[in-house]
Amino acid sequence: MALDVSAVRAGYPALADGYAYLDGAAGTQVPGSVIDAISAAYRSGLGNAGGAFPASKRSDAITAEFRQAVADLVGGTADGVILGPNMTTLTYRLAAALAKSWQPGDEVIVSRLDHDANVRPWVQAAQHAGATVRWAEVDLPSGELDAGQYDALLTGRTRVVAVTAASNVIGTRPDVAAITAKARAAGAFSYVDGVHATPHGPTDVAALGADFYATSAYKWSGPHIGAVVADPALLETLQPDKLVPSPDAVPERFEQGTPAFADLAGVTAAVEHLAGLDPTATGTRRERVLASMAAAQAHEQRLFARLLDGLAAMRSVTLYGKAHRRTATAYFTVEGRSPAQVAAHLAEARVNVWNGHNYAWELTGVLGIRAGGSAVRAGLVHYNDRSDVDRLLASVAELAG
Ligand SMILES: Cc1ncc(COP(=O)(O)O)c(C=O)c1O
Repeated sequence: MALDVSAVRAGYPALADGYAYLDGAAGTQVPGSVIDAISAAYRSGLGNAGGAFPASKRSDAITAEFRQAVADLVGGTADGVILGPNMTTLTYRLAAALAKSWQPGDEVIVSRLDHDANVRPWVQAAQHAGATVRWAEVDLPSGELDAGQYDALLTGRTRVVAVTAASNVIGTRPDVAAITAKARAAGAFSYVDGVHATPHGPTDVAALGADFYATSAYKWSGPHIGAVVADPALLETLQPDKLVPSPDAVPERFEQGTPAFADLAGVTAAVEHLAGLDPTATGTRRERVLASMAAAQAHEQRLFARLLDGLAAMRSVTLYGKAHRRTATAYFTVEGRSPAQVAAHLAEARVNVWNGHNYAWELTGVLGIRAGGSAVRAGLVHYNDRSDVDRLLASVAELAG
């Protein structure tokens, strides 16, 4: 069913400020239900984990509910959900854990499509281990990451293939299932960055074939919490560095220090919110999430067509990327204006966008735009509406003609 965007927007207090929030790819707003869940957690009294008293048991319950909620959003099982402050921290942690067994001459494969958070932790871990880094290249100007190239990149020495499920600037959604299947056939693990992909459609880590799937709740209407989902049996085979007294069970052994319990309650509320985007959806929360995220994707793609058509019609606008499958994320420049100037002009018109490389460091490098300030990113999420898009188009037209 079609998403009722005005009903959705009414649930987001921040959207009432009159700005067009096209900066969702850098972090979404949160609905009132998430704010209430965080506040209710604090009001109820929270204790540290594992205690005998009710406030501690509430924190334990919140943590367990968080793991189930993440599994309901992306697939996998609650006991394979590792929690952390954000994706970057977790990826450094997982890279260090995996690299413990690497030998000089082993190999890792990263891609130029990826956000640097799924590149540098692997490159640096490889350097420490004496392993070789191999690069999957982006086809320019289509913005596609061809899965076929992995046949030549993979060898019997490949330990990990790190690849994104969607580019955070040009939106390309590579054929992750094909890439992870090739990795598995070669005996390598796959580490899939789902940070940009997760908010834009239904996700199934099993269908993606991802050994590890990373996501960040603040990109999908939740608080600033990250998670990595993996098969608990795989996690059992890894031994990250950890404190002696901290839990050695999976997935806790991958988690460091005391988590933000109240925020975890907010993550569960965010998943509930997403599950309710299609109010006619029925069944388990997982089933409602899948139906609702499909409705959100259809809504975003409809608006995105309008956004792209509008930008493409402006003579002095250059759009980057035109992948066959992509998220509703536009990346563009305006002739004669720096991306920073365009973003400042849009801010005057109360339109929030990002300018710059957005940590798509390798991609903006090979595109040859990084030194010039890269480009402007306007990203749509489920709460954006036609007036957001039209406001952006009208404001860009003032510069571009
Ligand atoms: C595709 C992608 N990967 C990784 C990250 C880093 O995520 P985090 O801020 O949770 O470390 C981002 C953040 O913008 C991103 O867009």
